[in-house]
Amino acid sequence: VSTQVGIVGAGPAGLLLAHLLHLRGIESVVLEARSRDYVENRLRAGVLEQGTADLLTATGLGERMRRQGLVHDGIFLRFAGRSHRIDFRELTGKAILVYGQHEVVRDLVAARLAYGGPLRFDVDGVRVEGLTSHRPTIRFRDASREEVELTCDFIAGCDGFHGVCRPSIPPSAIHFFEREFPFAWLGILAEAPPSSTELVYAHHERGFALLSMRSPTVSRLYLQCAPNEDLGDWSDDRIWSELRTRLATRDGFALKDGPILQRGITPMRGFVAEPMRFGRLFLAGDAAHIVPPTGAKGLNLAVADVQWLAEALGAFFRSGDETLLEQYSARCLQRVWKAERFSSWMTAMLHRVTGQSDYDYRVQLAELDYIASSKSAQATLAENYVGLPFS
Ligand code: FAD
Ligand code: DHB
Repeated sequence: VSTQVGIVGAGPAGLLLAHLLHLRGIESVVLEARSRDYVENRLRAGVLEQGTADLLTATGLGERMRRQGLVHDGIFLRFAGRSHRIDFRELTGKAILVYGQHEVVRDLVAARLAYGGPLRFDVDGVRVEGLTSHRPTIRFRDASREEVELTCDFIAGCDGFHGVCRPSIPPSAIHFFEREFPFAWLGILAEAPPSSTELVYAHHERGFALLSMRSPTVSRLYLQCAPNEDLGDWSDDRIWSELRTRLATRDGFALKDGPILQRGITPMRGFVAEPMRFGRLFLAGDAAHIVPPTGAKGLNLAVADVQWLAEALGAFFRSGDETLLEQYSARCLQRVWKAERFSSWMTAMLHRVTGQSDYDYRVQLAELDYIASSKSAQATLAENYVGLPFS
C-alpha cells in the first residue's frame, strides 16, 4: 500500500493535519495505536485560542464547537484572597473558547470518517524507516495483526511525547532542550456547575489551583501536587477541601462540588526538539514539544504546527517547491519558544516551590499585584494567552 502522507497518531495534530491535507486534495493514512473509544474520551486540554477556533470553523469543523463551546472574554487571577480580572476582549479584541480537546478529536474523527479518509485505530508495532530516502515507509500490524508496509512520500510524526517517530531520528541529527518542574497537577472532572463565569488561576501558600470547566454542568479543576504524588492518597473529601482552601476569597467565594467523574496526575515539563524535521519525517505537536500546562498552550501549538505543515506539503505537491518544507521547523519553533516562555513564566508566577525563600514568595506576590494594577502588564499576559499571531 502507498499514500502521499503517512500520519502516525490520531490526536489533534494528526487528525487535523489529515483534514487540512484532504481539503488540499492530498491523500493520507492516519495510524493510531489506541482505540477510537479511547482517543475520543481521553481528557486533556480545554482552552482554544481564538485563532485555533477560527481555523476549525473555516475548515468546516466548527458546527458543534460553536454551539457547545463557551466563549470567555477574560480570566481571573486570584491571590491574597482577592480576584482580579484580566479582560482579554478590552485588551486585545480577542477571546478564548472553552471546548474540550476530546470534543475537538470527536469532531475530527467524524469529519474524517464522513469522507471515507483512511483512519486506522488499534495498530501495533509502528516503525518508520528510510527517512532520508524519497519513499519512506511505515511498517505496522493492523487491528487484525496483519503486518502492513505503507510507502509514503512524507511521514508526519504526530504521535505525542511518548511516540516512536522522534526516537527514530539519529541522536546526531536532533537536539533536545528540557526542563522538569518539581511539581505536578492533580486534575479532576466533576459533575458540578462551574463556580465562576470564567477560569480562575489561583496563587496560594499551599500551592496553585485552577478552576476551569467543560459545560454549564461540568467543572474541571486542578491542584498543584508533588511530582510523585499517589492518587490513592487523595480521597474526594481531601480534593474538595484542598480546592476550597486554595480558591477561598475574603468575600466568601463558594465552591460548588459534586461527584468526581475522572481524575489524573499530569507531570509538568518543558521540552523542545530541534529541528522538527529529519529527511522526509516531520514532527508536529507534542511529538516535538511540551509546555507546562499553565497557560493552556499545548493543543494550540499542535494546531499551529500542522497548519504550517499542511501549507508546506500543499506547496510541494502543487509545484514541487520545497521552500516551505525547508522553513517548516524554524517557522514553528519561533512560536513554540514564545509559548515555552509564556508557560514557564505563568508557572513560575503561580506555583509554590518547595524550599522557596520568603523573599521569593514576596516577589511572586508583588508580580501578581503588579499585573493586577498595570494595564500594560495585563496586556502582555492577555496577548500571549489569546494566542500570538500565526505568521
Ligand atoms: P497527542 O494528543 O498526544 O496525540 C498523539 C497520538 O499518537 C495519541 O492518540 C497516541 O495514542 C498516538 N500514538 C502514540 N504513540 C503511537 C505509536 N507508536 N503508534 C501510533 N500512534 C501512537 N494541554 C493544555 O493546554 N491543558 C491541559 O490541561 C493539558 N492536559 C494534559 C494532560 C495530559 C495527561 C497530557 C498528556 C497532555 C495535556 N495537555 C494539556 C497537552 C495537550 O493535551 C497536548 O499538547 C495535545 O494533546 C497535543 O496533541 P498531539 O496530537 O500533538 O498529541
Ligand atoms: C485547562 C487546562 C489548562 O492547562 C489551563 O491553563 C486552563 C484550562 C482546562 O483543562 O480546562
